[in-house]
Amino acid sequence: MSIRFNSETRVFSLTTANTLYQMQIGQAGVLLHLFYGPQATGEMDYLVRLQDRGFSGNIYELASQRGYSLDTLPQEYSGSGVGDYRAPAVQVRAENGSRSVDLRYAGHEITPGRERPQGLPYVRPAEDTETLTITLTDPVLGLRVQLKYHVFPAQDVIVRSARLINDSNRPLRLEKAATVCLDFLYGDLDVIHFHGRHNMERLPERQRVSHGGLQVGSRRGMSSHHHNPFVILCAPHATERQGECYGSMLVYSGNHLEEVEKDQGGTIRLVSGIHPEEFSWLLAPGEDFQTPEAILSFSAQGLNGLSRNYHRILREQVIDKKYPQGPRPVLINSWEAAYFDFDAEKILGFARAARQMGMEMLVLDDGWFGKRNNDTTSLGDWVVNEQKLGCSMGALSEGVHALGMKFGLWFEPEMISEDSDLYRAHPDWALQDPGRKPNVSRNQLVLDMTREDVGEYIFQAMCAVLDSAQIEYVKWDFNRSIANSYSHALPADRQGELAHRFILGTYRLLSRLLERYPDLMIEGCSGGGGRFDAGMLFYCPQIWCSDDTDAIERLEIQRGTSYGYPVSAMGAHVSACPNHQSGRSVPLSTRGIVAQSGTFGYELNPEKLTEEEREEVRRQIQDYHRYAELIAQGDYFRLTELDGNPDWEAWMFVSPDRKEALVNLVIRHIRTNGTFPFVRLQGLDPDREYQLEGTDFSATGAALMAGGFAFPMPRWDYEGKQLHWIAK
Ligand code: GLA
Repeated sequence: MSIRFNSETRVFSLTTANTLYQMQIGQAGVLLHLFYGPQATGEMDYLVRLQDRGFSGNIYELASQRGYSLDTLPQEYSGSGVGDYRAPAVQVRAENGSRSVDLRYAGHEITPGRERPQGLPYVRPAEDTETLTITLTDPVLGLRVQLKYHVFPAQDVIVRSARLINDSNRPLRLEKAATVCLDFLYGDLDVIHFHGRHNMERLPERQRVSHGGLQVGSRRGMSSHHHNPFVILCAPHATERQGECYGSMLVYSGNHLEEVEKDQGGTIRLVSGIHPEEFSWLLAPGEDFQTPEAILSFSAQGLNGLSRNYHRILREQVIDKKYPQGPRPVLINSWEAAYFDFDAEKILGFARAARQMGMEMLVLDDGWFGKRNNDTTSLGDWVVNEQKLGCSMGALSEGVHALGMKFGLWFEPEMISEDSDLYRAHPDWALQDPGRKPNVSRNQLVLDMTREDVGEYIFQAMCAVLDSAQIEYVKWDFNRSIANSYSHALPADRQGELAHRFILGTYRLLSRLLERYPDLMIEGCSGGGGRFDAGMLFYCPQIWCSDDTDAIERLEIQRGTSYGYPVSAMGAHVSACPNHQSGRSVPLSTRGIVAQSGTFGYELNPEKLTEEEREEVRRQIQDYHRYAELIAQGDYFRLTELDGNPDWEAWMFVSPDRKEALVNLVIRHIRTNGTFPFVRLQGLDPDREYQLEGTDFSATGAALMAGGFAFPMPRWDYEGKQLHWIAK
């Protein structure tokens, strides 16, 4: 039993292999948060000490207990407007204009397994998953909130969400419905969040949680390149190797907000969920609203320990197990090889050359439909441009398959070009304010995915193409932030629902396609990593990590991504030099090592490679196959601290049986008369002797972890090294 309720003390205890989460039904039915952290026996209600603070008011029926204040108590799901002045989890406007929400315990239930939420991605149940549902109500509003806790004991994960139900006979307007409210009673914590921009996503930034706090989030209609819906709270001394770390990750691809603040008494509160600024949801009598869910985890094993918990839960319970974790087909993508300038002959030429080197799938990127020869036109017109190709998609796909390769195709389903037959026929299918010229980005507008007719059209249009050829893979792109969020199909008082309904529309379309084509693999993409989140991973086992394919910049991007997301989900390709984004030239071997720590592929013109380069690519593909399982299923460790190392980057993989390890190093900046790059390995079996492949050298796991290992002296900038250790 991972969930227990003590009816005498009214304490809930949620237990995983190494963690404990406790709540208590306090006086007047206030649901108090007691503790989240390492496994411990006993109940921690003694931690809640009541203190009468001026200007922190009291619950009416407990007015004489001046220390019992909603403003100072650690709460599990805070209401609003009734005396807790910290960030609320929920805000509601009643029909009479009242904006107060006062939630109290009304009941609970413990059940095996978990239910699937309607229309949303979720963490699939494991064999031992149990669910706690705590019901809170505000009888004045007629609002019922079901807090759901799904416990994953083996993975050290608790998944949370809330369902809000209008039990009254009047409409309620939700103005905020967060997923997570997590109070830490005492102690200092640092917050690490992941910011970025197009071509440089998920850079970790760390700061002490302060009074006044920090807010990060996205109002772009997508989880965004700019702020990932994942935050870490950790002990100020926590490093990659040690220290207590908490994570909160939304399983959601739309607008989100993370708020972290320290209050007057030192309690730290984290609130995370749908961004309330672009959100307002009319809840008619009897209707309910389900928030996206969040994956909470704790590790006392430092940031690497926390990352491993996330890698495991995403690989095992979020990403569909029907997709192999590794190896996946080594692909050649046409984008950086040809951009919009191709015909079938050219693409088949790429395929032939790629196949000779061992590549396994040809992906035809943007430019195959409508009149799309540049980015000003044709999004929405998903009709094969046979004139440009010189043949049908079926014939091209056959040609690729005849070489023994799979075939993949690019789509950008949620977008529309003004210059398209679709827009000319249905201008009201684009999001835009009446009477106002829309904001344009990459010359395109956004389709109204809240509409069923739009979803149906895109579905049919995509099916027509997918049925016309043998297509094993789709790259699903999304190349702008949403603006002018106005739907011609929603009534005025429901326009605030657009952003969330949009994402539900996208999820619906993804689900329908995967139902119709169960063997199809969809790779997520949004101008690279603009929608790199657990919501998309539910449908797409891999996501293009960044449009920046420069191997040196990728070190940062992939490292930042690895805090929350597994390597088996990170799309990474070897591209040409000089690199198209940065102009930098990096040795092919180093480009291979970096792309190998992801879903491996190539994005260059294979016909332009020299014979020597082709030989090297062949070797890289053999290496990829050799190490794919170790990389995709092994434990991943960052060997460079969060602040980065200006001179080099190192990371490693250890197989689940700890018999094998692969250690990677890339030199960023060579130093004349410098020192050997030195790393302390992690995750090895201390008692085993590990041999460095290709040498006579061996050492115990204990020595390599405690004393470390110095790589050979680097010789040039961007040199890459890969060391394979095998247990004797
Ligand atoms: C986005 C993707 C690229 C490529 C282009 C095509 O930027 O991230 O990989 O597919 O669109 O327009």
